[in-house]
Amino acid sequence: MRAWASGKLILLGEHAVVHGEPAIAFSVSLGMTVTLDRLPNPSAPNALGDLTDDALLRAAVATALGPTGWRVTFQTDLPLGRGMGSSAALSTALIRARREALGLPPGTIDEQFAEALAVETVFHANPSGLDVAVSVRGGILHYRRTSPPTFRALPLPPWQVVVLDTGKAGSTKALVAGVTARRPAIDPLLQRIGQLVPAAEAHLHDPKLLGALLHENQCLLRGIGVSTAEVDALCDLATAAGAYGAKLSGAGGGGVVLALVDDPAPVLRAAARAGVPAWTCRPVEAP
Ligand code: PMV
Repeated sequence: MRAWASGKLILLGEHAVVHGEPAIAFSVSLGMTVTLDRLPNPSAPNALGDLTDDALLRAAVATALGPTGWRVTFQTDLPLGRGMGSSAALSTALIRARREALGLPPGTIDEQFAEALAVETVFHANPSGLDVAVSVRGGILHYRRTSPPTFRALPLPPWQVVVLDTGKAGSTKALVAGVTARRPAIDPLLQRIGQLVPAAEAHLHDPKLLGALLHENQCLLRGIGVSTAEVDALCDLATAAGAYGAKLSGAGGGGVVLALVDDPAPVLRAAARAGVPAWTCRPVEAP
């Protein structure tokens, strides 16, 4: 049994979304595939393979499948731990594969969201649910961590982004905990990030105005202490090469930068000259 789920990029609102502000994120065509096979002995511990077996992963798989009886294989074309939602994609693919393996219906979006969020919580302790919502639903979403969380599909915009990879993984759990510990001093910055979201929704099809909002979001992310010198340098590289705006995506502490562009070629060339891995992505609906 095999299931796939997509990764994501956050257009605006990471970290602030954990604390109740809105955010916008979109699904990308890169994702995670999970394959499940029954073990001959149903009470044998799940087999995760030498390369991928670690305690957190084992606990997440146990949350989705129970502790025994399955061989679980993972394949990914998402860079791991770089703010592209690999753990949410893994969580969603796991619960989808489980439903298929047990002959259950795929479940509603809300059911898949609740099941995948329980798995994602093992990885990140206090996830907003944004990544899981995008992985489950696809497309581009306005999301708010209300009780229950609310997500609303937005019309797919025409632009694409260039993704530039610092090559460094940040720990979402540690970065989210760090931001939480800096509250309430940084609350005005989190609130300002939240205010950028309705403005971005209003200008979603206007890359120039949207780019300015991305730039302000990146300045605020720097202000709350989650950017790095490498991330800032990649944002500068992209805007110097003609991007409308650039910011980190996800928890920060490294990870990827997304740069909003009309024509990706100059930013891709600048990245290649600097030896920085870069590629294009656009928002996609669920397959
Ligand atoms: O780095 P990622 O892909 O796990 O994204 C984290 C996004 C945060 O807003 C920082 C946390 C969250 O749960 O929304």
